[in-house]
Formats: sequence, C-alpha cells, structure tokens
Amino acid sequence: IIHGTIASDLLAWYDAHARVLPWRSPPGAPPPEPYRVWLSEVMLQQTTTAAAAPYYAKFIDRWPTVQALAAADEAEVMAAWAGLGYYSRARNLVAAARVVAERGGFPETEAGLRELPGVGAYIAAAVAAIAFGRRAVVVDANVERVVARLFAIGEPIPGARRAIRSSTDDVTPSGRAGDFAQAMMDLGATICTPRAPRCLLCPLAGSCRARQAGMPDNYPLKLPK
Ligand code: ADE
Repeated sequence: IIHGTIASDLLAWYDAHARVLPWRSPPGAPPPEPYRVWLSEVMLQQTTTAAAAPYYAKFIDRWPTVQALAAADEAEVMAAWAGLGYYSRARNLVAAARVVAERGGFPETEAGLRELPGVGAYIAAAVAAIAFGRRAVVVDANVERVVARLFAIGEPIPGARRAIRSSTDDVTPSGRAGDFAQAMMDLGATICTPRAPRCLLCPLAGSCRARQAGMPDNYPLKLPK
C-alpha cells in the first residue's frame, strides 16, 4: 500500500468515532448480512442517513430477508418506499431481490453484484467491501471531497474523478476495506464537510495537502462561473 499511514490513522479514528447507524454492526462484530448492506446502500445513494434510517427500519421489519422481499407484492414495496423518491430504485429493489432469491444468495464480487438491477459501480463496491470484506474502491460524494483535499487534486469535478479514484485506490487497505470505506464516508459527513471543515479534529490533518496549503475548503476545485 502507498500512503500506509492514512488507512491506519483513519481506521483508528473510526474505531473510536464511527457513527452508530441502524445498518451497521457494532465495532468488532461480524459484518451485517449482505441483504442489509445492499438495502441500506440503495436507500443511501440519493438520500441522507437521517432520512433513510426510518425507511430502513420499516423495510427490515416488514421484509427481514431478501427471500421475503422477493416474495413481496411490488405495489406494497412501492407504497412503503413513498417519500424516498427516485422510485426506479424501489422497482429495481424488488427485481434484484427476485434475482438474488432465485440464484440462492448475493454475488460476492463487484462484477457479479453489478449484474443486479439498480446496482452500479458505487453500490457494487460498497456491498463487496462492507458485506464481503473485499478490497474495493468505494467513492461517493463524501469520499470525493475527502480525497480531493488529501491530495489537493488540481482539477475540478467531473474531470478530477479519474485522479480521485486512482488516489482512493492508492490509500485503500486490503484488510478492513468495508470499515475503511465507511470511515471515509463518516469523515466526509462529520469532519471534512463541504464548508468549514473541522481540521483540528481530523485524524488525517497531518497528511492533508489542502490543509498544508492553508485552503482545505477550496477542494474539490470549482469551475469558474
Ligand atoms: N452513505 C452511503 N453509505 C453509507 C454508509 N454505509 N455509512 C454511512 N453513510 C453512508
């Protein structure tokens, strides 16, 4: 691994400060069922953690397994989804549950996961890392911001995405890949925020090129208007 101290510093911070969220296992416990990880990531792709949490609880209560969701009436699932928006996600949810139930379980690789309806690069990487412990490069909007700052990436989004992915790959450890991904998300949500990042509390402040340059919140760079 390149930049080995970034992963170990971040994981140590996560051990002390991980957010408690309903789709996570307690620290040190085995990872949650792939069904739970997939369901939460589908909800979280376009929805905040606070808005998704009650829906996640409702779905787990009503359809506790992927087999139960596969057997559900699609109209009931659509009704339970009401309020979350982007309704193609709910339709894909039922379709994917049926594929998974039919094949006897979730695929464990990113490539296999991506064949499921509604599962793109982000969700496939997140499920492979969090549920199956596979080393995967997980990049969402929070991770983009953290990595653009860490390496002071000198290009605006969307052009910067290639460099951001490559730098994220460089810092992703082979062990605890799921914790690492979720730690990056937590850091972006609570410390490395879009405005007024709380660098004094950041476990990666010593490695952060944007902070060293004195302008952490300039990154990711914005296109001139
Ligand atoms: N946003 C998307 N996935 C998440 C996760 N697993 N934990 C926290 N925030 C997230």
